[in-house]
Amino acid sequence: MDSIFDVPFALGMMRLPDYPALAEPSALADWISRQVEAGFTLFDHADIYGAGECETRFGEALKAAPALKANLQVITKADIVTAQADRSPFSVKHYDTTRAYLMQQAEQSLSRLNLERIDVFLIHRPDPLMPAEETARALEDLVAQGKVGQVGVSNFLPEQWRWLQANLNQKLVCNQVQLSLTVTDMLVSGQLEAHLHDGLKLLAWSPLAGGQWPEALSQRLAQLAEEKGVAREAIALAWLKAIPGMPLPVVGTCNPERLAACAQVTDVQLNRPEWYALWEAARGHRVP
Ligand SMILES: NC(=O)c1ccc[n+]([C@@H]2O[C@H](COP(=O)([O-])OP(=O)(O)OC[C@H]3O[C@@H](n4cnc5c(N)ncnc54)[C@H](OP(=O)(O)O)[C@@H]3O)[C@@H](O)[C@H]2O)c1
Repeated sequence: MDSIFDVPFALGMMRLPDYPALAEPSALADWISRQVEAGFTLFDHADIYGAGECETRFGEALKAAPALKANLQVITKADIVTAQADRSPFSVKHYDTTRAYLMQQAEQSLSRLNLERIDVFLIHRPDPLMPAEETARALEDLVAQGKVGQVGVSNFLPEQWRWLQANLNQKLVCNQVQLSLTVTDMLVSGQLEAHLHDGLKLLAWSPLAGGQWPEALSQRLAQLAEEKGVAREAIALAWLKAIPGMPLPVVGTCNPERLAACAQVTDVQLNRPEWYALWEAARGHRVP
């Protein structure tokens, strides 16, 4: 069976409310349909994006065009309780990995998304208070009930996912972390190798650094883009894909022109000096 991660990049839905042209369910359904036809079939959500609004809009689009459901996959995440959502007297942002909370959030995501199954359900952030056995049973039960296909984590360090995995009779399939030319700590700390060793697919959030590239990097991207006849975005994504294990970028744009620029990543191969020249430009200094 093909992996659902076998796509050029996943489409992040966090910024959906920034695109007024996609506000109507039929417009969003058309947009989703175009992405699926182009081979971009994996959509990344979280319960907190737009305080539930992003999942709700996506679900309304799927209601308008239910045939799409068979051809796309959805990731969603839970455990972050925002300060606004916290009903305690403290109104404190926190994480909740208890069984009751995770089961409730998965149910609510399914209902908002208008789906029968979440393809990959992630624990959004590591929770120091995680009751590992209880969290693991909740994830297993969601899979056993058919509400979730696979499980994974996000923003976890190796020992954090290993502790959850040690309690879990279900393989954690991925870890979604911040990774781009401008955020590269994990490439020099051994974390990359931990993903490879443990067989977790690495998903890279904010892969274009939100377009906030330092000037030297911007120039280097432009130079290589011109040489290779592609857009700068394609070079930035190709840089990620050259890393062992081929981290899967989760791009945040819904803008058709920018998505077309990103799609050129499939035409780009970077050699070793090109890869290091980009990293040097992003770091502002040479590798030691
Ligand atoms: N797991 C987590 O903790 C976590 C955290 C944050 C995000 N995420 C996921 O990751 C996804 C992507 O995050 P992201 O949106 O920060 O990623 P991104 O792809 O790095 O950034 C997209 C944003 O950058 C802008 N942009 C990109 N290239 C640009 C350029 N060359 N010039 C100017 N602006 C440019 C886009 O604007 P345009 O609209 O003009 O294209 C868009 O607003 C989210 O949707 C979410 O699914 C996960």
